[in-house]
Amino acid sequence: MADKYAVIGNPIAHSKSPFIHAEFARRTRHDMTYGRILGNPDDFAGDVRSFFAAGGRGMNVTLPFKERAWELVDERSPGAERVGAVNTLTLLSDGRLCGDNTDGIGLVRDLSGNHGFDFGGKRVLLLGAGGASRGVLPSLLETGPAALVIANRTASKALDLAAATATDRVGGCGLEGLGGQRFDLIINATSVGLDGGVPTIPRDCLAVGGWTYDMLYGDAPTPFLRWGREQGAARALDGLGMLVEQAAESFFLWRGVHPSTAPVIARLRSGQVHGRP
Ligand code: ATR
Repeated sequence: MADKYAVIGNPIAHSKSPFIHAEFARRTRHDMTYGRILGNPDDFAGDVRSFFAAGGRGMNVTLPFKERAWELVDERSPGAERVGAVNTLTLLSDGRLCGDNTDGIGLVRDLSGNHGFDFGGKRVLLLGAGGASRGVLPSLLETGPAALVIANRTASKALDLAAATATDRVGGCGLEGLGGQRFDLIINATSVGLDGGVPTIPRDCLAVGGWTYDMLYGDAPTPFLRWGREQGAARALDGLGMLVEQAAESFFLWRGVHPSTAPVIARLRSGQVHGRP
């Protein structure tokens, strides 16, 4: 019988994860199914337990349940432990649940692996200090940038997040505190693009030859991707590659195989996805 996996979130109808994992399974010839579950905000733990009781092998967890998944699991990878959020659940052979977080690795693999960004010696600006920023921060730091500044509308949250890294390469400030600073890479990890806007930052923050990256993605160019193009970014990228890369790392954790991501990203980009993935 095919091994059973799923993604749980709320909302979940528009998730592309079932399409991505079906592609990975087809290309690696792994016999598995991957469904989608609309999680009940009042009984997330019950939904997870029912899935595994019915033979599930692993789950991806998306908004708004990543923190609750972190609390629920029996053990956590060191990466998940640090970021306080879990996006991958794996059933261990002894019946316990293990939680991982593959978001940070997904971001870094897309930027450096797929697009060739070299973090070494670069100045990186991370916009936002919520769950999305916290989730990718350790992986970004491991790439060895010269400096990483976290800027947030609410300055105190950026300062707290920066202080928690206990590294003098990391600083925090409010968005208005960015005046006069220049960055080689600006990453949008705020949720503001979901309602069509971009964070308000000084126009000259992007260094000549600098890149912009939006952790959001959409069928149309996202507002921050358009902003990057307007600023003359050398590369303005959205988060579709990160989505596929974090999925590939989950697939590896479950199946022990790294699926090829490029053809899956290409299919998503060209809109060859039938129905709503
Ligand atoms: P997520 O899990 O997506 O990170 P979150 O934890 O609610 O969601 O964090 C949302 C982030 O987007 C925060 O950094 C938030 O800034 P505040 O901490 O000041 O709320 C940021 N954000 C949301 N709307 C914004 C806006 N209109 N302008 C700038 N930043 C915004």
